[in-house]
Amino acid sequence: MSLPTRALRLSGSAVLSRTRTAAAAARSAPSVVPFLNQNKNFHSSPYFLTSKANQPSPGEFSRTDPKIKTTYPGDDSSELPSSTLSPTLPSFSLQGKVVVITGGARGLGLVMGQGIVHSGADLAIVDLNQEEASVQAKELVESFKKMHPNARPPKITTHQCDVSSETSVSSCVADILASHNNKIDGLVTSAGFVENMDAVNYPIDRVRKLWGVNVDGTYLFATEIARHLMERKAKGSMVFIGSMSGAIVNVPQPQAPYNASKAAVRHLAASFSVEWAKAGIRVNCISPGYMLTALTKKILDDKPDLKKQWTSLIPQGKMGSPEDLMGPVTFLLSDASSYVTGAELRVDGGYTVA
Ligand SMILES: NC(=O)c1ccc[n+]([C@@H]2O[C@H](COP(=O)([O-])OP(=O)(O)OC[C@H]3O[C@@H](n4cnc5c(N)ncnc54)[C@H](O)[C@@H]3O)[C@@H](O)[C@H]2O)c1
Repeated sequence: MSLPTRALRLSGSAVLSRTRTAAAAARSAPSVVPFLNQNKNFHSSPYFLTSKANQPSPGEFSRTDPKIKTTYPGDDSSELPSSTLSPTLPSFSLQGKVVVITGGARGLGLVMGQGIVHSGADLAIVDLNQEEASVQAKELVESFKKMHPNARPPKITTHQCDVSSETSVSSCVADILASHNNKIDGLVTSAGFVENMDAVNYPIDRVRKLWGVNVDGTYLFATEIARHLMERKAKGSMVFIGSMSGAIVNVPQPQAPYNASKAAVRHLAASFSVEWAKAGIRVNCISPGYMLTALTKKILDDKPDLKKQWTSLIPQGKMGSPEDLMGPVTFLLSDASSYVTGAELRVDGGYTVA
């Protein structure tokens, strides 16, 4: 490749510095610049000797006669059209995928659902609260249309289900498949709840109910969808919503059954990831720290001291917001994480490493 051709391919400032360097080298040390030695006429080439200071003038590489001058507008002008697209690695897109989210009518599940549809997927929202799910599904479609007026709006369906009931889960998954061309590619399990109560006073039937939603609900949904993926011989990605409470014990509030349930969710993700790896099904766990949802906000508004105590233990010095889960969940559902399985991604502002 000749130097002028090469220089043409460099950006403006690179052209200047390369041309100066080449000229200086030719004057002081010709033996180390073989290209310039072999091309004796190069210094008198119209590509090189143009301006007084041996610097190319704007646009001169586009002309064969250096005497022709063109005046360009000021430096701040640009010939490039403006673009509203953000360059993003295509593997992060969820385009063409159908994702199911349990507990998607509210809180973290709802906001993760928003991130999922804005990344290109169709969505099935599963919740006990069908009414809320329908209202939010319409809002999600409207917000998508506003932000992406030229894109195909996502298909969002809603399905009532009690995730702790085997029959409810299997008829719900059948209903989702009927609504989405018999195809599910991803699952996010966000249905779950926490209660703060001393273990010695916690009635076992209430503990079982909590475990039923947090643990059985995750198990039932994951296995039902794994069976579907295996029958279809399709790859899939599952993201279980655990909690940092699955790895540490929160203070000062007592919540032993909840902490145990989230440890179970984390280890279910790890166990399934190994069991289903050969089937092409990835399973990962996101463990959020203290997130500011409508629910936690209400609790903390009533107890400002508790909020101070919590944030004092978070290295980032603040609680997370539901939006902080949009990127992590999209990454784990997408092909960008195709070699990530059995992982726990803690989204906790550094709480668990401090
Ligand atoms: N908010 C936090 O700070 C935080 C932190 C760590 C982990 N988490 C976990 O994130 C998940 C979501 O929490 P959130 O704060 O968004 O709660 P949320 O109460 O705002 O939302 C939970 C949703 O799950 C639904 N749900 C509850 N029981 C159900 C059942 N049996 N079947 C189907 N749907 C059911 C509810 O109707 C609700 O829409 C939970 O698993 C929670 O443990 C939350």
